[in-house]
Amino acid sequence: MKIVVVGAGNVAWHLSKALHDAGQHIVQVYSRLDGRAARLGNEIGVSYITDLQHINPDADIYILAVRDAAIEIVAEKIRKRLDRHFEHQAEPLVVHTSGATPTTLLQPFFKHYGVFYPLQTFSIDRPITFHTLPICVDAAQASDVDMLFELAKTLTPKVYRISNEQRQILHVTAVMVNNFTNHLYTIAHDILQQENIDFNILKPLINETVNKIQQHPPATMQTGPAKRSDDTTIQRHLTYLEKYPDYRKVYEILTESILNDDKTE
Ligand SMILES: NC(=O)c1ccc[n+]([C@@H]2O[C@H](COP(=O)([O-])OP(=O)(O)OC[C@H]3O[C@@H](n4cnc5c(N)ncnc54)[C@H](OP(=O)(O)O)[C@@H]3O)[C@@H](O)[C@H]2O)c1
Repeated sequence: MKIVVVGAGNVAWHLSKALHDAGQHIVQVYSRLDGRAARLGNEIGVSYITDLQHINPDADIYILAVRDAAIEIVAEKIRKRLDRHFEHQAEPLVVHTSGATPTTLLQPFFKHYGVFYPLQTFSIDRPITFHTLPICVDAAQASDVDMLFELAKTLTPKVYRISNEQRQILHVTAVMVNNFTNHLYTIAHDILQQENIDFNILKPLINETVNKIQQHPPATMQTGPAKRSDDTTIQRHLTYLEKYPDYRKVYEILTESILNDDKTE
């Protein structure tokens, strides 16, 4: 199948490369910025555009890997551009890659629409392995779901049909386990840097925290002063954190959440 990838950011970059490496036929990539479009196009040896007016009208699938707020804008532009081609050929499947955006956002523009959501954290400069990550797909029409399964299966065996509602719930939890956790690392890094202590000292602890939950439910692995209801230690920490009022608030909220967890057990 012929694929156009719209976007050249974190997801577009890795997804395009992975699909290309899996032997899929990407016919074109798009970014508004010439440098970005060229970098991705040249990386996988396909043509690139910086104006959706020039989008290839012959693709079977258009993957919109643009920021959530731009999905609708881009969909409308593509629809206008491809309108006259739809009179002569079968309409293509158009998907976005967002965890939080309902597929129905694409419904006003396309007969065949859906989602192709790789549940992982992507950064352009960090290599990523696709064959262990889950891809959540969905579409309104069964034949489109089949097509998305077929495509996703070329990247990973972990392909799931996940509804709009389920995907939004998954996305909330993904924010918690990835974005929030990483923010906590950032806070720890900042504090240690200001105190001239090496952040690397924490890395074995970080690694073990992640390793433990591979075999055990997270709640059973909880340790620390809040878990022990060790008020003296919690007070000491809060006193130290007075110089970081924002971090103190985070500490308080999470401590309260752990204490409440124990009460409900
Ligand atoms: N990053 C992740 O870890 C991750 C994981 C799973 C799913 N997602 C989802 O994947 C999608 C892309 O995320 P990302 O992290 O790749 O974002 P990103 O790195 O910020 O890239 C966003 C892309 O959107 C394009 N864009 C933004 N506004 C636009 C507009 N008005 N018109 C046309 N293009 C526009 C940008 O175009 P230019 O190149 O022209 O600037 C860029 O190529 C989002 O829906 C996100 O929720 C992200």
